Amino acid sequence: MTDPRAGVADLVEALTRPEKLSLVSGASDPAGTATGYLPGVDRLDVPAVRLVDGPVGVRVPGKPATAFPASIALAASFDPTLARRQGRALAREALARDQDVLLAPALNLIRVPHGGRNFEYYAEDPVLTGALAAAAVEGIQSDGVVATPKHYVANAQETDRATVSAAVDERALRECYLPGFRAAVSAGAGAVMTAYNRVNGTYASEHPWLLGDVLKGEWGFSGFVVSDWYGTESTVAAATAGLDLEMPGVPVAELAPGDADTEDEQPNPAPDTEETVEGQTETEPARVGYADPARGIPDPARHDYFGEALGDAVADGSVPPSRLDDMVARILGQLDRFGLLDGRERDGALDTPAHRELSATIATRGTVLLENDGTLPIPADADVALVGPNVGEATLGGGGSSETTPAEPVPTAVGVERRAEGAVTVEPGLAPIPDLSMLDLLLSGPPARPSADGTSIDAAARAAADADVAVVVVRDRATEGLDRPDLRLPGRQDDLVAAVADAADRTVVAVQSGGPVELPWRDDVAAVLATWYPGQSDGRALARVLFGDADPSGRLPVTFAPEAAYPATGEPRTFPGVDGRVHHDEGVFVGYRGFDRFDVAPTYPFGHGGSYAAIEYCDAEPAADGRLRVRLANAADRDGRAVVQAYARPPETAVERPVRELAGFDAVGVPAGETVTADVDLDPLAVRRYDADAGWTVDPGTYVLEVGRSSRDCRLTVDWEPDAAHQ
Ligand code: BGC
Repeated sequence: MTDPRAGVADLVEALTRPEKLSLVSGASDPAGTATGYLPGVDRLDVPAVRLVDGPVGVRVPGKPATAFPASIALAASFDPTLARRQGRALAREALARDQDVLLAPALNLIRVPHGGRNFEYYAEDPVLTGALAAAAVEGIQSDGVVATPKHYVANAQETDRATVSAAVDERALRECYLPGFRAAVSAGAGAVMTAYNRVNGTYASEHPWLLGDVLKGEWGFSGFVVSDWYGTESTVAAATAGLDLEMPGVPVAELAPGDADTEDEQPNPAPDTEETVEGQTETEPARVGYADPARGIPDPARHDYFGEALGDAVADGSVPPSRLDDMVARILGQLDRFGLLDGRERDGALDTPAHRELSATIATRGTVLLENDGTLPIPADADVALVGPNVGEATLGGGGSSETTPAEPVPTAVGVERRAEGAVTVEPGLAPIPDLSMLDLLLSGPPARPSADGTSIDAAARAAADADVAVVVVRDRATEGLDRPDLRLPGRQDDLVAAVADAADRTVVAVQSGGPVELPWRDDVAAVLATWYPGQSDGRALARVLFGDADPSGRLPVTFAPEAAYPATGEPRTFPGVDGRVHHDEGVFVGYRGFDRFDVAPTYPFGHGGSYAAIEYCDAEPAADGRLRVRLANAADRDGRAVVQAYARPPETAVERPVRELAGFDAVGVPAGETVTADVDLDPLAVRRYDADAGWTVDPGTYVLEVGRSSRDCRLTVDWEPDAAHQ
């Protein structure tokens, strides 16, 4: 039970039971603007509450908003300041659309490269994820909007997302999957959204250990827990475990009339009893309230658990009345905290020049220079052949609930043409690769791969041969609701790059993807940029990087490697799961920790990324404030940016630990010819290990900090005896 402020406690006291029930059970927004809605209680001046998606833009149907780059692009900036600024901008746009709660940030750890929502998440590392999530929460809430970190927890795949059970041990949960949420909660998040999936057999939305013991207990979370849309699966179990608000959204089943009688097809995974977290035993099969489980179409009639049904449960004593009061107090407590109860004036602003500029800045800061033989930056007066199936548009993002419609997107070709001083010949080479839409997915099932139309590849190669530099822009496609079938670029894009590289002396490839992709031609081209989904500033940001107006200063927040090399993708039991369970056999060895553990060489390691400047690492020493001071010198005659990374290597221990763990990082500008100092905060997570019996443990001994440019490019080492604050 929280300890509500007096005014809130009085309000709870004054509400009737039906009023309380209406406050914990979502409804459709009569104005049709919000993603979710809570009717208010006029009699007591409790206002209606509007909840809106999402992490990269305010998604109000038919209303434009700034479309920021994918969250993975923001993560590639390794810059919490940008996350804070973006959070604030999102909040101001939400307020301008009269919304109160933003369903963001999305911060699930990237476990497998196939994850259909990886573009919406940050990273494969918990320290980076936590730093960005905390900053995003602070930014969103600094302007009076409630942030909703999501999806709590272990929601690492889209395949069977509504039913799959993540079989994951407590150490991996504590060291990898929970820290991002903990950081968001410590930053003051007012709400937390539960995941669709089960964790060790129990739905996240009714998980007493995750919601009660960890979130509200250990972490002292005093806000409210909201289910994902149609992600409540019970009344008593959910309410008593700690879910505070059931949230249905648009009744998707109405879009597919007739599907409601396909219930018999629902998967019913056999119960089993494997124990993965102490006290959490998988005994229960998935309950599936879906009109069409194969396509994930919810059945609204079976998702009304906190309305009348909760009233009955309170009446018959299976849910204590005090629990209903707590649910209401938690929601009203946040309305009070953010000024909604006293009608405080809250000011918003939409699609301002500052927001547009911020979106372009995030796109350039998140662009990763994977390879460069010196071809980049391109002289402004060079003749450029611009190739790529989608250069006529802006790559806004992936499909699903994060889709945002901007007022004035800048297509790739438009941005490049505006900036170039030489000739720009646009020759797409292939028919456009269509975006994936979650609605199409729901209504029609998984899409076919794009056609193999390659009739104009020759034309693109000819244009490339005639130009000084060929720039090929390729893309993958991703959407919520669907994992990627493989890591290849769709259609004949690999053939297109190969043909252009063959014809042109200098070929630059910009890869617009939601996560890692395979780059079979990378040794045959002059430069490769990972731009992720750049959002509305696509052409503007790419032009800045191509012509050297900005340093592409992103670093990889995920390892790039061939599909089979990833630690969790070796067999179906680890991804996408068998019999309804996905086994996290790799434990804490997620992402680069797995590549290090199994000694597999990635194509590009976590943290990798170049710069147009020449930044040297001079020296590093621990400072009195517990931070690490790193001196950097830029020997180039152009300004650049560095992302200093410090990885902790543990001493010899009896229990196997990751070879190295990111302890901290700092993104800094280093002007031409100057020396600057980076201050790296060191996260205690990098020295702690979780022991199921003893809890958090610090193995004694000297830790070595590897300071450098990536997880595999160490420039300096420093011995580190963590002080009390870091244990
Ligand atoms: C997504 C959430 C989103 C919600 C509302 C769900 O399908 O998983 O991230 O906030 O829909 O659109």
